[in-house]
This record gives sequence, C-alpha cells and structure tokens, in this order.
Amino acid sequence: MELPFAESYKIKMVEPLRKSTREEREQWIKEADYNLFQLKSDQVYIDCLTDSGTGAMSDRQWAAMMMGDESYAGSSSFFQLKDTITRITGFEYVIPTHQGRAAENVLFSHLVKADAVVPGNSHFDTTKGHIESRKAFAVDCTVDEAKDTQLEVPFKGNVDPKKLEKVLAEKAELVPFIIVTITNNTAGGQPVSMQNLREVRAIADRYGKRVIFDSARFVENAYFIRTREEGYADKSIKEICKEMFSYADGMTMSSKKDGLVNMGGFIATRHEDWYEGAKKFCIPFEGFLTYGGMNGRDMAALAVGLDENTELETIETRIRQVQYLAAKLDEYGIPYQRPVGGHALFIDADRVLDQIPKEEFPAQTLAIELYIEAGVRGCEIGYILADRDPVTRENRFGGLDLLRLCIARRVYTNNHMDVIAAALKNVYDRRHEITRGVKIVWETELMRHFTVKLERLG
Ligand code: F0G
Repeated sequence: MELPFAESYKIKMVEPLRKSTREEREQWIKEADYNLFQLKSDQVYIDCLTDSGTGAMSDRQWAAMMMGDESYAGSSSFFQLKDTITRITGFEYVIPTHQGRAAENVLFSHLVKADAVVPGNSHFDTTKGHIESRKAFAVDCTVDEAKDTQLEVPFKGNVDPKKLEKVLAEKAELVPFIIVTITNNTAGGQPVSMQNLREVRAIADRYGKRVIFDSARFVENAYFIRTREEGYADKSIKEICKEMFSYADGMTMSSKKDGLVNMGGFIATRHEDWYEGAKKFCIPFEGFLTYGGMNGRDMAALAVGLDENTELETIETRIRQVQYLAAKLDEYGIPYQRPVGGHALFIDADRVLDQIPKEEFPAQTLAIELYIEAGVRGCEIGYILADRDPVTRENRFGGLDLLRLCIARRVYTNNHMDVIAAALKNVYDRRHEITRGVKIVWETELMRHFTVKLERLG
C-alpha cells in the first residue's frame, strides 16, 4: 500500500489553546465593535486572521537566533541573510526592514511621486496605501478570470498583458515601475505563472520600465509553478525561484510569510541606483543599513527560514494542509475561490450570504458569524478592505467580497482544519436565516478595515 502523505516535521513545543462559549464570544465581538482585529488573541480558538508572523520556527531557526550577532554596523547575521537572499533570488543589493510594508515605504519613497501610475495585479492594501498616500494611482491589471470564484484555472493571479499594455501605451511617462504580487493575495492567494512573469518582463522591456515583485509568498508561487506549469515538475523549488526573480528588477518582501519568521522584511534589487535611492530612506525610517529594523538574531533566523522554506518538503507540507481544508469544503459544497491558493481559503461571501446587500458587507458578516459559531477568526478581504475611492469617496464594490481563512505555517494540525470546516458548514446550513449585515459607524480614510467600528443590523 502506498504510504500516506505526512508532515515533514514533528512537534517539540506546544502552546495550549482555550475554547470559549458562544455567550462569551457574542459579548467579546460586540465589545470589539464587530471588528475581528479588535479581539484579543485569547478570545480566539483557531486563529485564521492571517498567515503573517504567525508561523512556528524550526529548531534550526531557534538555534540560529542564539548565534545572531547584535551589531549596529556590519553584523555578521546581516551578511548571512544577504548571502542567502542573493543565492535564492540573484539580487545583489539587500536592505533589511522591519516588515513588508516598511520595505514598500522605503523603496516607494524613492520611486513613487505624486500622479504616478503603478500597474500591477491586485496590489495588497499596504502597497495600495503606500501608492495612494503619495497621491499616486494603483491600477489593477489582474486577469478577469480572478473575479469568477468558481472558474478553475491554474494561474488566476496573473497580470492581464492587454490591460498592462494599455496602461503603458496611455501613460508610460507616469509609470515608475510595474509591481507583480506573487502569489496574488487579494485575488485569493492565486499564483502567477512563469509564462506570465516572462510576458510582463517583455512588455516592461518594450517600454523601458522596471518590474518589482511583491514577494511575500514567493515560495508558494514557485510550488504552484512546479505542480501546475508544464516543464517545471522536475525542477527544484530553488531553481524555480531563481528563474522567477530573473524576470524582476527588485523585490519587496514581507518575511513574516514565506520567510518563516514572526517579524521582518527586506528590499532586494539588482540595480545600484535603486539601492542608493532606497538607502537614503532606510536610515531615517528603519535604521542603519545592516539591520534596518531587525535584530541580528532575527536576521539569522530569517536566513535559515528562507533556506528551509525553499525546500520542497517544507512548502509541500504547507500547501497540502491548505488543500486538505479545501477538500472538506468541497465535501460540504461551500463556495470558495477555486482552485484553492497557497496560504488561505477565500470563501465567496456574496454566494453564501446572497440575501445581504453589498452595502451591508456580506464577507464581514460571515466572519462575525463564524467567530460566534466556533471561535474561528477569519478576515474580511472585501468591500471594507477595499476602502473608498480616493476621488469620489464612494465605497468600492467592484471587486470580490471574500472571507479569508489563513492557515498559519506549521501551527495547526488537520484536526483543527476539520473544526474550521465543520464550523463553516454549520454557518452555511443556516445561511438563509442570516438576512442582515453590518453598517459602518466609524472609519479612517485609508486602511479602514483594521480599526473600523461596526454595528449589527437586524
Ligand atoms: N504584500 C503582501 C502580498 C502582503 O500580503 C502583505 C501583508 C504585505 C505586502 C505587507 O507586509 O505585513 O510584513 O508589512 N499581508 C498580511 C496579510 C498582513 O494578512 O495578508 P507586512
């Protein structure tokens, strides 16, 4: 008999979890103004809010932490990190930052001026925030297939070359760079094919533009290329990563995802002029160039994490767990962005709570229901996250309204996946009784979803 697939690790330290009662959860979520970001983590049983900074480090990473060199200038941990990044990506210049958005802030301070136009595939909210706060514009060029959650196509995260070409044909002089997010988080953790990365490179070259990869989940992207794109089945994850990055000029990285650490980020590039430009902003915003907001020990753990995660068995274990949960949802008929992506399930809330109008935020409503049902915390990736249009100040209802259930790396077991699926099924089975959503009573201008205050209607 063929042996079943199992995790590529065993567990040697645990953190106890606390369950709660429905009454407690109803009280807590009310006190949190129906915003799941405002809950305390010990009010949560299974936390699927994010896969960012929530993973478990390996014994090798913890050992590396003990060896970290806490120096202001010239830390050996920095050089260990830099060498690892150069080996995996081919980028020679590296600037550490305290997390991904800080990398965006430092690099975009150099590159994005007022009125600039930055085309890309579903810019993440901090990326969009860093563009729009500079009075520039993020233009989404994601393929239309991404909008239909039930369509099974292998690379739903792709950039639509025609849309990109149009932006460049009309506004090339305003475009400082193109940004490609691998994997495409906002569209459902969907991968971008190697073919597409090549096409983007060719278009960029035609217009003399540079390309940045927002690389938070680049290893997951490489895994999907290996398993879904012809010609890559026999390549190592590291070889695939190297080829992906060969089509970019630089990257911003949130190390809290595919770096397998709890905090950290970096910028890496092959261009000295970008490095020189970004350096000027790193020092005042983040710190000196050989630590940029990170401890020596954290840089050492990140170097090991990047190496470890770009090995097939690590990334396969991770993706197979997400696919395990997806298979359960298939069994229960719950609609999500198909095929399942790398780091999360994205439940199609518009389809589940189809009686709730857009103006009452179905995905947020579903997130609240799931929390009350079982203490599972998800995150709305939908109309609240989309913020208002910077010019018209209208809510942006053009995208998808999804409930994201992120799976932390190396944290929960498949038994926890079974609980998440059963809780969702219970909510799904009573979906017709959920007829009213929520209304916003307080919000900020940018990135409102973190602090928005809501009231339950009905
Ligand atoms: N880019 C992408 C694609 C992201 O998903 C994130 C963060 C960032 C950039 C910013 O990185 O958090 O280190 O500052 N995503 C988290 C999430 C927060 O939950 O998806 P950061």
